[in-house]
Amino acid sequence: MTAPLGRVTPVVRVAPAKLNLTLAVVGRRPDGFHLLHSVMATLDLADRLALDPAFGPVDRLHVVRLGGSPSRDLGPEQENLVLRAIGAARRAIRAAGDDRPLPALAVRLEKRIPVAAGLGGGSSDAVAALDGALEAWGVPDLLDAEARSVVATSLGSDCPFFLAGGWASVEGRGEHVRPLPPPRGGPLGVVLVTPAVAVPTRAAFERYAAGIRPAGGAALASSTHLVTELQAGLSTTLFLERAGVLAFANDLVPAAADLVPDLTRTRRALSRLLERPVGQSGSGPTLWALSPSKADALGDAAIVRAALADGLLSVPGDGAPFVAAAALAGASPVMSS
Ligand code: C5P
Repeated sequence: MTAPLGRVTPVVRVAPAKLNLTLAVVGRRPDGFHLLHSVMATLDLADRLALDPAFGPVDRLHVVRLGGSPSRDLGPEQENLVLRAIGAARRAIRAAGDDRPLPALAVRLEKRIPVAAGLGGGSSDAVAALDGALEAWGVPDLLDAEARSVVATSLGSDCPFFLAGGWASVEGRGEHVRPLPPPRGGPLGVVLVTPAVAVPTRAAFERYAAGIRPAGGAALASSTHLVTELQAGLSTTLFLERAGVLAFANDLVPAAADLVPDLTRTRRALSRLLERPVGQSGSGPTLWALSPSKADALGDAAIVRAALADGLLSVPGDGAPFVAAAALAGASPVMSS
C-alpha cells in the first residue's frame, strides 16, 4: 500500500558502512576518474536516517553524532549528499513523467560511521536517502534498478555498490557492481581503527595520479584472484589465510600515507599488537584487522583501546581515534538498527 503523492509517509533507513578488502587502480578515464577493481563488503556499523514531512517548503537535514563517531565536521560535500540525493530523486521522478507535487522532507541522520574515513558513510547515507525519499513519497516502484543505478552513480562512485550491499566486486568508476557470495561459515569480524584525520577521496586519488603509488599491479592480481575464489566458494578459514595478501592489495595506501604522516607507523604497530595483518579501507585512513567473528573483533577492540590508554599505541590525528568492532555481511546482509 503506497501513499498518494503530495503526502509523506515517515520512513526509516539503515545506511551501512563498507570495507574494501581489495582496491586496485587499473586506469584513468578521459574525465579524470580512475578505473577500479575492488572487492567490497557491507558492515553492521551503520548510520540511520529518519525521513518525515518538513515544516516549510525546503528539504532539511539534522545530523546527530552517536557511538563514538568523531566530532569533526561533516564538511559541506558530505552534508549535502543526503539533500542532493533527495533532489536527484525528485528530478528522476519528474524525468519518469510524474509531475505531481513532492513535499519537502525533513531528514534526521544519526551518524555512527566516521566521515572521510574510507568507509563509504556519505555514499551510503545518500543511497539510503534516495531509497527512503521514494518510499516516503509513495513511489518506490517508479524507478527501476537501472534508473536507480544511474542516479546513484551521479551522486558518487561508491553509491552504486550500496544499492545492493552485501559482498560484491566493483569495477569501472564504481558503477559496475557484481554480487559475490560471502565466505562460507561467517559472518567474519573486523576491528576498525580510524585516526581522527579526514582523508578526502579526491585528495587521495590526486596523490595517486601524481605518482604516489605502488609499483607492480599486485593489488589487481590479488583482487581478481579473490573474486575467482569467492565465486568458487571460499570458507572463512581460507579467506582469513588470505588476510596477509589482502592487507597489501590496496593501491591507495601510499597516497593515504602521504596525506597522513605516521599512518604507516601506526599500521605496523597495530599489526604487531594484534599479531595480524592490517589493511586499509578505500582511500583511508581507516585501518582494519580481520577475525573469525564479531566476538573476536570485540576482543581486538579492547586490546587496541587498552594499548591507547597505556600509551603503547600512538595514532595520528586531532584526538582519539575511532575504534570499533564490526561484522562483515554474511550470507544474508547483516544490518544493525
Ligand atoms: O565519486 P566521488 O564523488 O566519491 O569521488 C570523489 C573524487 O575522487 C572524484 O572527484 C575524483 O577526483 C576521485 N575519484 C577518482 N576515481 C574514482 C572515484 C573517485 O578519481 N573511481
